[in-house]
Amino acid sequence: MTGEEIKSTLKTYNLQSWSKQKNINPISIKKAEGIYLWDYDDNRYTDMSSQLVNLNVGFGNKEINNAIKEQVDQFCFVAPSYGAESRAKLAKKIIELMPDTMGKVFFTNAGAESNENAVKIARLFTGKSKIFSRYRSYHGSSFGAGNLTGEPRRYTLEPGIPGFVKFFDPYVYREAIDFPSEEDATKYYLHKLREQIQYEGPDSVAAIVLETITGSNGVIIPPKGYLPGVRALCDEYNILMICDEVMTGWGRTGKMFGFENFDVKPDIVTFAKGVTCGYVPLGGNLIY
Ligand SMILES: Cc1ncc(COP(=O)(O)O)c(C=O)c1O
Repeated sequence: MTGEEIKSTLKTYNLQSWSKQKNINPISIKKAEGIYLWDYDDNRYTDMSSQLVNLNVGFGNKEINNAIKEQVDQFCFVAPSYGAESRAKLAKKIIELMPDTMGKVFFTNAGAESNENAVKIARLFTGKSKIFSRYRSYHGSSFGAGNLTGEPRRYTLEPGIPGFVKFFDPYVYREAIDFPSEEDATKYYLHKLREQIQYEGPDSVAAIVLETITGSNGVIIPPKGYLPGVRALCDEYNILMICDEVMTGWGRTGKMFGFENFDVKPDIVTFAKGVTCGYVPLGGNLIY
């Protein structure tokens, strides 16, 4: 197929995510290597976003390609009740990278699924039902994760899941209040969060889900002391702190996971993207 044929076939037969279908104009890609992509006219493009902020090692990594081929030759699938060397090795490796508060990993296929499982685990573990998440957030597009999501990509899923409660994250840069310092902002936002927990009833709140650094809603770094403050509120009210590390995980913030920058230890960590850099679908939950 030529680049134009690929484009017109896709436009005819394929729904593209998050796009007004009429105006899509995908560049057909012939090859990709490192940080570069080439179209069918041999124009070279530099990938400035690591695709979906997931291609941390770039395109065409030979070691990964070979490992995938080896696995395909051994077997492509066995049910979770069987033992697979690749799953055993990866689970051990991931736990070794994590703080000592994490003991087990539960594998999924993507970030959204990881967040959905985190909610199920939190509800089962605490016996409580309400789940707090933030307006300025994206946690995935499946029904549960899409309801955790606070930004407008949530609207088509509404009316949403009962017990999912939204709160505002600290966005000091565009806040109407001119805070004298980051610490003052932190104090204000934690006070509002505490108030909201109290009004919702702490005995019914199972978990607070947050992106450690807000990703697709603006790359918003929390002000000093905010995440430890959320951790302290969680401890005070027996609420689980769930950090969505789907975008911030696997080295994207200078540490292996984003939360390591803020001196906090979450109760559940969700991950995807950089764990395989898009070479194969994979996500997961880390739990104690
Ligand atoms: C913070 C965050 N959580 C969850 C997701 C959903 O991940 P997936 O697309 O793998 O379902 C994304 C995807 O962009 C994300 O950025």
